[in-house]
Amino acid sequence: MALPEAFLQELLLRSDISEIASTYVNLKRHGRNLVGLCPFHNEKTPSFNIYTESNSFYCFGCGAGGNVINFIMRIENLDYIDAVKLLAQRAGMNMPEESYDDSMSRLRNRIFEANRAAARFYHSCLYSNEGQQGLDYLHKRALTDKTIRRFGLGFAPDSPFALTNHLKSLGFTDYELETANLAVKSKKSGKVIDRFFNRVMFPIIDLRANVIAFGGRIMTDQKPKYLNTSDTPVFKKSANLFSLNNAKNTANRQLILCEGYMDVIAVNQAGFQNAVATLGTALTKEQAVLMKRYADEVVICYDADEAGQKATARAIEILRSTGIEIKVLRVPNGKDPDEFIRSKGENGPVAFKNILENCGNDLEYQLQNLKLKFDVTTPQGKVGYLNEAVKILAKLENKMEQDVYISKLSGELSVEKSTIVTQVNKLSRQNYKARQKKEFTKLQTDLSGTKDTINKQHYQMPRATKAEESLLAYLINNPDSVDYINAKLPPEKFRTDFNRQLYVYFSDRIKSGLHPTSNMAADFTMEESGKITAIMTSCSSLAATRQALDEYINVILQESEKLSEEKISTATDDELMDFIKRIKQQKK
Ligand code: CTP
Ligand code: MN
Repeated sequence: MALPEAFLQELLLRSDISEIASTYVNLKRHGRNLVGLCPFHNEKTPSFNIYTESNSFYCFGCGAGGNVINFIMRIENLDYIDAVKLLAQRAGMNMPEESYDDSMSRLRNRIFEANRAAARFYHSCLYSNEGQQGLDYLHKRALTDKTIRRFGLGFAPDSPFALTNHLKSLGFTDYELETANLAVKSKKSGKVIDRFFNRVMFPIIDLRANVIAFGGRIMTDQKPKYLNTSDTPVFKKSANLFSLNNAKNTANRQLILCEGYMDVIAVNQAGFQNAVATLGTALTKEQAVLMKRYADEVVICYDADEAGQKATARAIEILRSTGIEIKVLRVPNGKDPDEFIRSKGENGPVAFKNILENCGNDLEYQLQNLKLKFDVTTPQGKVGYLNEAVKILAKLENKMEQDVYISKLSGELSVEKSTIVTQVNKLSRQNYKARQKKEFTKLQTDLSGTKDTINKQHYQMPRATKAEESLLAYLINNPDSVDYINAKLPPEKFRTDFNRQLYVYFSDRIKSGLHPTSNMAADFTMEESGKITAIMTSCSSLAATRQALDEYINVILQESEKLSEEKISTATDDELMDFIKRIKQQKK
């Protein structure tokens, strides 16, 4: 059931997108609008725009866009109704009765319930006879019962129907279990069977204390070592972090970013609750933005092996784009954090605390790594190191930070500071020019519409598309012109299907007394909403006079005749005669 228009309008009025988006993204004022790095994809130059006048956003880089509801849906990973609920709560508004329990929302709630019941079941199995080997395994890995309880760890029995039968006895359906990815259809038998069996289980819990997914570890050397819940209506791997529910409450606004479940748990047991891990994938921009909300500083604490160090370099880059402070903790002796903390008995946690308190920032980490590659006791080594180091320093956008490290480097290598400054400045300028050039090319592609993925006919019919978009923008911004426009322009005259659909949609809404875009987040996908926002905002600078409008209509009508020309080959004789007559009339 749709939400009442008056409610939606008030909600949108009370939810200022610049204010709301600013709590997630670093934004800079740019005239009337705000600009920043897009939270939905990784980028170095800002393409994310907030339009204060239309209370909407659009990213030129990835095409995400729409109103404030679209924004919340995407950044909080919520469905439409839940995003509206969140905004209503924030604005101090009550949800209208009855309207909020749509079917998707109901299904999501059923999945949360099934997951919670599954977590309880797995946990009780761990402390039953059949879970003995799971419990032994966790004890062998030095976890205490207190830690096991705190994380709600469990055991999935070695039988294909253990969980499925239990959950079905509680009233869950096959469909619900499959959608939750707690069960899968067996390829052999066609029966619905447990997704996880004979594994120790790690529940993944979100910030509202819902169980949203599981990770399961096999207790032998078999593969895959970990099995994770696939994406479901309540779980998006790339947008969640393991144990953020525990870590978010720590007072010092610092998070420790680990690679795996066991690392997070070991770090917790060593006394630090602020550890989180990605869920079997490389760190994403969405996760970085999420961390920024709960922390001012992230300590990257990945494995000491090569893969871990590569992942560290990638994580630094992604975290940097959010503006969060970064430190890097090097785990000694080629170990992962869990092994390190366990290795020296009582000394492990103490040693870990010591390293944590003394670890350097990302830049020091990069410079140290670099220095290892050169023998700086020789002149050649010194020059080699210096050449590479200035490249790193030239990338810094903060001049003060740059100056601090230039001084450090100059002292360390006994090289004149001014020499290094000259070199860094030269490279900085080159970087800046390269960035500008890239931005310019990007802007050109954006404007030419060559990568319009929503309106695929844009490319074949640029003139028609442009006129249609200008007309749509006019209509949205001047809803009282709807009758005038509709009288002159029947929908069939639109050449591109997407724009025709928008024309009918907006005309209908306006004629029913509704705001043209207030229900956008429910009626369109994020990418479609983005396209609509782009149309509204990119055409808003065009002339909005009646004369301009008539010109748009004219172009659309002319273009629609071209369509007929293309159709000549398939037309009947009558249609053909009719067509020729019209062309003759036009020519008069
Ligand atoms: N991972 C995964 N699937 C795999 C292997 C790893 O999802 N087949 C994810 C898990 O989240 C795991 C993390 O990547 O925790 C790190 O993997 P790895 O370093 O191999 O495992 P450890 O965390 O060291 O796990 P353990 O100590 O249990 O061996
Ligand atoms: Mn490990």
